[in-house]
Amino acid sequence: MSQTHDNSVYYSEYLQLNKVLEAQFPESDKAGIEAHDEMLFIITHQAFELWFKQIMFELDSVISILSKESVKEHEISLCVHRLHRMESILRMSMEQFTILETMSALDFMDFRDLLHPASGFQSVQFRVLEMRLGLPQEKRMNRAFLTAMKDFDKNLVHQAEGKATLFEAVQSWLEHTPFLETEDYLFWQEYKSAVSDTFAKDRADIANHEILTDEERVIRVQSIDQAESSFNSLFDEGTYKELMEKGERRLSHKATLAALFIQLYRDYPLLDHPNALLQAICGFDETLSVWRYRHASMTMRMIGSRIGTGGSSGFHYLAHTALKQRVFGDITSLSGMLIPRRITPSLPNTISERLKFTFENE
Ligand code: HEM
Repeated sequence: MSQTHDNSVYYSEYLQLNKVLEAQFPESDKAGIEAHDEMLFIITHQAFELWFKQIMFELDSVISILSKESVKEHEISLCVHRLHRMESILRMSMEQFTILETMSALDFMDFRDLLHPASGFQSVQFRVLEMRLGLPQEKRMNRAFLTAMKDFDKNLVHQAEGKATLFEAVQSWLEHTPFLETEDYLFWQEYKSAVSDTFAKDRADIANHEILTDEERVIRVQSIDQAESSFNSLFDEGTYKELMEKGERRLSHKATLAALFIQLYRDYPLLDHPNALLQAICGFDETLSVWRYRHASMTMRMIGSRIGTGGSSGFHYLAHTALKQRVFGDITSLSGMLIPRRITPSLPNTISERLKFTFENE
C-alpha cells in the first residue's frame, strides 16, 4: 500500500475551498426569516468581487509596464492582451446581473431591509479600481461612500490614492512617442494644413450649393467654423491649455497629439501595437460604462426609483455615473479629429522607413 502524499497538491486545499464555500451567511437565516434568494444575492456579489480581484491583478501589471521609462514592443502586446482579458471579464460578469434578475423585486424584499446600511458603495475593490484607472477625485461624485466604510477599508482606499494610475502611465507612455517631430518635420503643422484644406473645400462646396438658401448657408458655415475651431484647439498649445483649465480636456497636449498620430498612421507596422493598446484601453473604459449602466438598469428593475441602501438616489445616481465616469474620453473622442486616409499627409521618408518592418526596408 502506498502512503498518502501529505505534501502533494490537493484540489480543495489548493483552492482554499473551505474558506470560499463556507463564506455565505444569509442575514435572513440569522433573523429566522424565510428568504430563499438571499443565497443567490450573496454568491453573485462574491463572484463579482473575485472577478474584480482578477481585473486589478491585470491592471496592476499593465500600469507597472507602461510606467517604465522605455516600454518594449513585446511588452505593449502583453498589455493589450491583459487589457483584453480585463474587458472579457467585465463583459462576462455582466451576465451575472441576468442571473441575479431571476430574483424578482418581491423576492428581494424578503431580505432587503435586513441589509441596511450595507451597499455596493462600500466595495473597496470597485473604488480602488476607479482610482487605479485614473478617475479624478472631482469626478468621483459621491464621496459619501468613504463615510460609509469601516476604518480598515478606508485605509485601503487611502493607500490606493497614492498609487500610479493607468491614466498617468498611458499619458507618460504617449509623451515618449518618437516620430512626431524631426529637424524638418512637425506632425501637427502638416496635419493642421491638411485639415484647413478640407474645411476650405467644405466652405467652397456650401458657397456653390444651388439648393441652399442664404440663411442655410450661414448656418452651415457656422457649423464648419465650430468644427474647425475644435480642431485648432488641438494644434494651439495655448488654447489647449485653456481647455485643460476649464476641465474640458485632461490628457496633456503632447500625449493627445501622439495619440492622434498613432491613430492616423496606424497602418504602419510599428504603430499597429501602440494603436491596439489605445483601442484596448478605450474598449475597457467603454465596457465599464456599459457595466455601470447594466447595473443601474438592474437596480431599476429591483427597487424602481427608490433610494439605495447606501443613501444615494439609486437608479439616477448610477445611470449618471455610467455617462460621466469615463477616464479615457480624451482618447476616444479623437475619432472626431481624424480625416480620411486619402488626404492624410504622407510621412517624410526618414520617418516612414523606420515605421515599416525591417525586412520591407531591405
Ligand atoms: C438586487 C441587486 C442590486 C441592487 C438593487 C443594487 C443597488 C445599488 C444601489 C442603489 C447603489 C447606489 C449606492 C446606494 O445608494 O446604495 C449601488 C451601488 C453599487 N453596487 Fe449595487 N445593487 C445590486 C447588486 C449589485 C451587484 C451584484 C454588484 C456587484 C459587485 C453591485 C455593485 C455595486 C457597486 C460597485 C456600487 C457602487 C457604484 C458607484 O458608486 O459608482 N451591486 N447598488
